Amino acid sequence: MKPLVGFFIILISFSFLFIGCTEDDNVITITFNVGRDPTAAHHTLIRHFEEQYPHIRVQVVESPQDASLQHDLYVTRFAGKDRSIDVIGLDVIWIAEFARAGWLRPLNDLAEELPMEDFLPGPIEACTYRDTLYAIPWFTDAGLLYYRSDLLTDYGFEEPDTWDDLENIVTTIRNDHPHLSGLLIQGEQYEGLICNVMEFIWSHGGDVWDETGEWRLATPAAEEALQRLIDYIRNYDITPRGVLTYQEEESRHVFQDGRAIFLRNWPYVWELANNPASGSNVVGNVGIAPLPGKEPGLHAATLGGWNLGISAYSEHPEESWKLIRFFMEHEQMKRFSIEGGRLPTRISLYSDPEILEHSPYFEDLYEVFINARPRPVTPHYSQISDIMQVNIHRALLGRITVREALERIDAEVQALFERYGR
Ligand code: GLC
Repeated sequence: MKPLVGFFIILISFSFLFIGCTEDDNVITITFNVGRDPTAAHHTLIRHFEEQYPHIRVQVVESPQDASLQHDLYVTRFAGKDRSIDVIGLDVIWIAEFARAGWLRPLNDLAEELPMEDFLPGPIEACTYRDTLYAIPWFTDAGLLYYRSDLLTDYGFEEPDTWDDLENIVTTIRNDHPHLSGLLIQGEQYEGLICNVMEFIWSHGGDVWDETGEWRLATPAAEEALQRLIDYIRNYDITPRGVLTYQEEESRHVFQDGRAIFLRNWPYVWELANNPASGSNVVGNVGIAPLPGKEPGLHAATLGGWNLGISAYSEHPEESWKLIRFFMEHEQMKRFSIEGGRLPTRISLYSDPEILEHSPYFEDLYEVFINARPRPVTPHYSQISDIMQVNIHRALLGRITVREALERIDAEVQALFERYGR
């Protein structure tokens, strides 16, 4: 367990002492456990919920935005049968693991109250484990390429379709602006690194599974993809070395300060980079495109996203469901999408004029969103991700070769499958 996880557990435990003190007899307090959201859009929703349901109070318990750290925090709390978790925001990649461990309430019956046919199929599938629904998709995510539209226009460039195009654009613009970074990614050793790396691998025609459905990452396509990323960082100065310590927010800040040409990130950046209140220096000069591919059209985006579930140890499942149902209402999801820049999970919102006015790119990139690809779906995903993070990060630091990293990952993942099954 990372030392930070212990620190947050102590912090969270203390906050519950205070909840206990303030609860009045007729009001039930439930906790809403989520990662920190830089747009803070869920706070408005909760205020509206409390107005509509005066007998329910919602205590927001925020954990760090780092998805890996959040995961470890919840695993520790669930393993201790912590009853203080009611509603929980779940990353798409945790659902199989948490459902199998028995930590989440099945939601099939309750979900009949929602227009399930209006939800995007990919996220619903990600919330389903062995034919049972364990969470409702709240917002979805897909990796995107942000660019400085003013600079590309000045130099007469179109959006890059291939990685070669991107390199050419960076090299040309940096000739005149050497202080600008080319492409920013999230390269720290944490979950975000895997999202970035999978996009490189898929966009070179690779995958973690071979044609027979067996795990095999050490392929020429994956090797070429990772080598390209390493060359960007270590040899060609397309990507600054600082990215090896960047998560989403660090890279967003550098981009919206106006210090980079390209940024790979999730949709929430659109709202913040175009909002002067967020301190952005690039308002109105931001474009969005699918991530480039090795060949024209070989675009790939990692499927991300957050889903709402109810802890199996919650003492307030009814109230918890009311909160989830409220968040899924058309109007609330719309508000959340507009204020937080998040991709809705309800299909009908993609043709809503107000949403499209605010985020016009939703229409152009809808195909990218619905074709976003899942990371390996297995209850052992967290361990697989740890194995990949360690070895890939070491390769990015130049401590082992790409080939060594890929072979070690294959050997360790195969050993994991032999021990626990898939
Ligand atoms: C975003 C995605 C999530 C992913 C995380 C990695 O929050 O929605 O799926 O695991 O980023 O940093």
